[in-house]
Amino acid sequence: MPPSIDHHDSNRSPVKPWRWIATIMAMAGVGGAMVLFHYAAAPYLPQGWHDLALAVILIIGTGFFSYFVFGILSQQQKAVTLANQRLERQRDGLTALREASYAMTTVGDWHDIVQNVVDVARKLTGARYAALAVLEVDDSYTISQFFTSGISAEEMATMGPFPTGRGLLGEVIRHRRPIRLKRLQDHPASVGFPPNHPKMESFLGLPLLYQNQVMGHLYLTEKEGGFTTDDQAIVELFARQAAAVIANARFYQDRESFATLKERERIGRDLHDGVLQTLYGTTLSIDNLVDSVETLDAFTTKELVRISETLGLLMTEIRFFIQSLESTSIDFKIALTDMLRRQGPMDDIAMEFDDTQYLDLHPERIHDLLLSIQEAVSNARSHGHASHILVHWHSTSECYQVQVTDDGEGFVPQPDATHTHFGVRNISKRMDKWNGSMDIQSRLHEGTTVTLTAPWL
Ligand SMILES: Nc1ncnc2c1ncn2[C@@H]1O[C@H](COP(=O)(O)OP(=O)(O)OP(=O)(O)O)[C@@H](O)[C@H]1O
Ligand SMILES: [Mg+2]
Repeated sequence: MPPSIDHHDSNRSPVKPWRWIATIMAMAGVGGAMVLFHYAAAPYLPQGWHDLALAVILIIGTGFFSYFVFGILSQQQKAVTLANQRLERQRDGLTALREASYAMTTVGDWHDIVQNVVDVARKLTGARYAALAVLEVDDSYTISQFFTSGISAEEMATMGPFPTGRGLLGEVIRHRRPIRLKRLQDHPASVGFPPNHPKMESFLGLPLLYQNQVMGHLYLTEKEGGFTTDDQAIVELFARQAAAVIANARFYQDRESFATLKERERIGRDLHDGVLQTLYGTTLSIDNLVDSVETLDAFTTKELVRISETLGLLMTEIRFFIQSLESTSIDFKIALTDMLRRQGPMDDIAMEFDDTQYLDLHPERIHDLLLSIQEAVSNARSHGHASHILVHWHSTSECYQVQVTDDGEGFVPQPDATHTHFGVRNISKRMDKWNGSMDIQSRLHEGTTVTLTAPWL
């Protein structure tokens, strides 16, 4: 069976010719009755019956005539009523369209705006379900995003992935023109629905064109009684506005993200060239001071070293911030080397990487690892007076691990260290964040190993 597209004939009103036909028929009828009476009745009837016979012929004739004419009139009446109803529907449609235009002017990001367009389209047409497919930028036949209306999130979850643009949806995409069907299953391009898909029969799909560019495709299904030509006309008008709204939203989003990107780059540059360089200079001055001034007392020296360390931490933080601004991915190995180098000469430090899975580390995880390692190394140097420190990376499919081992003096870990010691506690907290853990093994006069472990997921 071919797809059944219903054609509503526009109704031309045939009133004029009928008026003439009726007038002529009335005259011809009276004339005919007279002729009939004269030739078929009068010669065979006695004079006294003539009036009666003529009356009977005229009454019967008038009766038939009236029946015929009023029949036509009531048909006309019906046609007029139908035309009125249709006009009313069209007027309602246009009113709804106007309201829909207002409703489409929401604020929000591109995503919100497109979602709103689908919702408004569904309400406008009285369709039970609506969807809007956005295509891949470089490939104009593949659906990249699919917005729906009328289906709950739970229902969607049971249906599996979004359609990719095969079948009927693709048919609209390829032909770039509206398709309206009573039963979408009857269309040759229909490939059927996945399991748990709600029942859908009547269908109206059309492209959203803006300046001859496809902004998306709108699909409406399940309207009671199916979609009419009038529905299609209204939706086509709506589609033009919707396309313009989406194009506009996309334009602003692009501009905004471009501006944001530029702004972020600028902030990053300023931080790097300004704040970071100043901090670096200050740290160098402090380190020089500690190294060159011999009259410094132990307390001052210790304080200056602490300040220098704090500035080092701050620089690491800022570097991370800059990297996150530029949303560049971070290589843990490079970042670690970079961070350790900034701590001073690396003669006492070795690094070992068993595998390259660290390349999968999320920048946030790297951030926490680096700050933890920085603390462990700093402790090994300042408390353990270690001469060798090893930073060792290895991982499995479940988790990753970094061990900082030193050959220093070791210590006895205190379960509740005083409030002045934050380093170890902070490491522990940073690992907790990733459902990971910190472990310290220490032997007096032998050294300390700090183990940082976290699962990948
Ligand atoms: N590698 C290590 N070798 C020897 N002692 C260590 C080592 N790591 C930690 N400690 C001991 O554990 C204590 C707690 O360390 P933690 O890093 O928490 O505090 P802190 O280094 O004293 O101060 P903060 O880190 O808050 O500046 C240290 O004071 C030190 O006595
Ligand atoms: Mg410490």
